[in-house]
Amino acid sequence: MDQNSAVFQMAANRLRQATGVVVFTGAGMSAESGIPTFRDAEGLWHQFPPQRFATLPGLLASAVAQPRRVAEFLIALLGPIACARPNPGHLAIARLEAHKPVVVVTQNIDGLHQQAGSSTVYEIHGSMLRIVGRGRRPLRRLSRAELATVVDDLREVIGSRGFAFPQLLRAIEPIFATGITHYHRPDVVLFGETMAEPDWSQAITAVQNCDCLIAVGTSGTVMPAAALLDEVPQQATVINIDPAGGPGELQLRGPAGTVLPALVEAACGP
Ligand code: OAD
Repeated sequence: MDQNSAVFQMAANRLRQATGVVVFTGAGMSAESGIPTFRDAEGLWHQFPPQRFATLPGLLASAVAQPRRVAEFLIALLGPIACARPNPGHLAIARLEAHKPVVVVTQNIDGLHQQAGSSTVYEIHGSMLRIVGRGRRPLRRLSRAELATVVDDLREVIGSRGFAFPQLLRAIEPIFATGITHYHRPDVVLFGETMAEPDWSQAITAVQNCDCLIAVGTSGTVMPAAALLDEVPQQATVINIDPAGGPGELQLRGPAGTVLPALVEAACGP
């Protein structure tokens, strides 16, 4: 990303003048924290089709029919989140708050914006770091260390002889149980489920009231999340940070961990 380019300078000027910023993030935001995206070449959905692994009926059917595949999916999804740390892009977004009001709207479930220090984060697809009961009743927070233990247990049982559905259920019991009296699950939005509230409604309001939206690392293909961009006021600036490009008039093609710190520094100083 050429910081002397006209488009970079224009984006920095617009961000400097902005009075209300929304940063809308997708999987690419956390790629440099070691968490794979969904639709890139190495993306999770290429190995694990979402119809079978990201809907509740699909996941339950797969768990019975192919418990080993489901264990592999959970290891691939949860392992990186369990040991992730914020990257320089997350930290730059948190720093921007010292200069102007910032709302982060994220599709990510990894809790990295909060860990970086962002204070207003709407998690429209929920969070892997919270456990809920029936009706999404909040039950407890889940630490990365606890998540790492579940991943370790999965790695251990998957290699054992006679591994089957009951062993899978036992390994994931700290995060998932579907008994009549004993029901809990991660507070994440699977395909076909309603968006996380109140975060989704708050995100729409924030976008409708911003004068600068920075979209970072999202393919913009998943509804209804991608429809948030339709709510941006006409006179507002939309900056896109993504090596592959995406929606937005000002395209900064490059990785979030490099472009965001440069943009925030150019707009607001070191
Ligand atoms: P995708 O995997 O669809 O898109 C990832 C985007 O990140 C692509 O546009 C990449 O070019 C970009 N990217 C990759 N590395 C990057 C980097 N270092 N810096 C910046 N951008 C980078 O992920 P999302 O758009 O987040 O939902 O997908 C949206 C939703 O689809 C997810 O929240 C998830 C998934 O299915 C559910 O599971 C409900």
